[in-house]
Amino acid sequence: MKKQKAAIITGITGQDGSYLAEYLLKKGYRVYGMVRRSSTETFERIHHIVDRVELVQADLLDQLSIINVIKKIRPVEIYNLASQSFVPTSFEQPVLTGEFTALGVTRMLEAVKLVDRKIRFYQASSSEMFGHAPYTPQCLKTPFHPRSPYGVAKIYGHWITINYRESYKIFAVSGILFNHESPRRGKEFVTRKISCGVAKIKLGIEKELRLGNLEAKRDWGFAGDYVEAMWLMLQQSQPRDYVVATGETHSVRDFVKKAFSYVNLNWKDYVVIDPALYRPAEVHVLKGDPTEAQKRLKWKPKVDFERLIEMMVDADLQKVSDTIKPTIPA
Ligand code: NAP
Ligand code: GDD
Repeated sequence: MKKQKAAIITGITGQDGSYLAEYLLKKGYRVYGMVRRSSTETFERIHHIVDRVELVQADLLDQLSIINVIKKIRPVEIYNLASQSFVPTSFEQPVLTGEFTALGVTRMLEAVKLVDRKIRFYQASSSEMFGHAPYTPQCLKTPFHPRSPYGVAKIYGHWITINYRESYKIFAVSGILFNHESPRRGKEFVTRKISCGVAKIKLGIEKELRLGNLEAKRDWGFAGDYVEAMWLMLQQSQPRDYVVATGETHSVRDFVKKAFSYVNLNWKDYVVIDPALYRPAEVHVLKGDPTEAQKRLKWKPKVDFERLIEMMVDADLQKVSDTIKPTIPA
């Protein structure tokens, strides 16, 4: 009988980790999630699969814990998705962001180098590395100009991945993913903040939605589509880096307009601009060129911008209405 392949996902409790775990389970992998210790469980996004994955404790800050986990599991693939991923927090906690998001990658790669150089390694890189890009759309040749400590840390992660590939012949790839969202997106990110806000306003719980810069433009896709690209990158005959994006860009204002109009409301009646939500340095426009991913990986996003918004608003309407349902006495 064919032996089941084992994969480790760091950041399994996050948005992407939860979709990737589902995807790998469907492909027949034994899925191990690396989780850091916390005083309460953070399994909200994986509660539906928690009995089908195995959770192991380790922390990106702790080298030995990572080595021990990899030694114990001996995976064929590692997906390094864990990081401090919220850009505003990286301005407040730049050093910690560097520890997790930059040096954490080296700790993972060192562990691979030490335990088994045949393990295939995926690094979750980001379009934030392009930042103040000199041209649009951005591709692998576009020079980096990060605009946050998060973007700077991700560039370190990107280059250390390439360095371990070139130095030690590890199959290590860096996937430069543009923004991808879903009903499981953290509530502080703008798309989910909007879908939650729209749902609460529609259901009469809140009266306004406070936002920052509405002019920023992003290339937004669906997280469920993007985890497939991660897997495809590790199935190729040669390791290389990829840009994963939809190739379309929309402003935060477009997202807001469409989300409110989906529930028959006019956004202008509810949105309040709060200057405190502007960033010290902004990334104004991101739009990726996914040509290479389409050509080599045969990857294409399935969910478009409109459908993504509808999916997120529908999910939040459901969640909010569940929380306000009157409890029926037994
Ligand atoms: P997310 O929802 O914020 O999840 C981050 C994950 O990292 C969580 O599981 C978190 O665990 C874990 N983590 C943080 N610090 C850790 C530590 N010290 N040790 C172990 N685990 C730690 O992020 P996401 O949206 O799924 O993104 C996944 C990855 O892709 C991140 O690296 C992100 O920077 C990158 N990325 C995301 C996008 C996007 O648009 N979503 C685009 C490009 C790149 P807890 O549950 O314990 O907090
Ligand atoms: N979060 C947030 N909250 N952003 C706002 C708000 C607000 O109230 N108002 C306007 N924005 C603008 C931000 O200024 C930014 O230009 C844009 O909305 C998107 O912000 P986020 O949703 O926080 O995402 P991000 O683009 O900064 O970062 C995400 O995408 C990266 C890939 O490009 C994160 O997922 C990163 O981890 C990821 O690497």
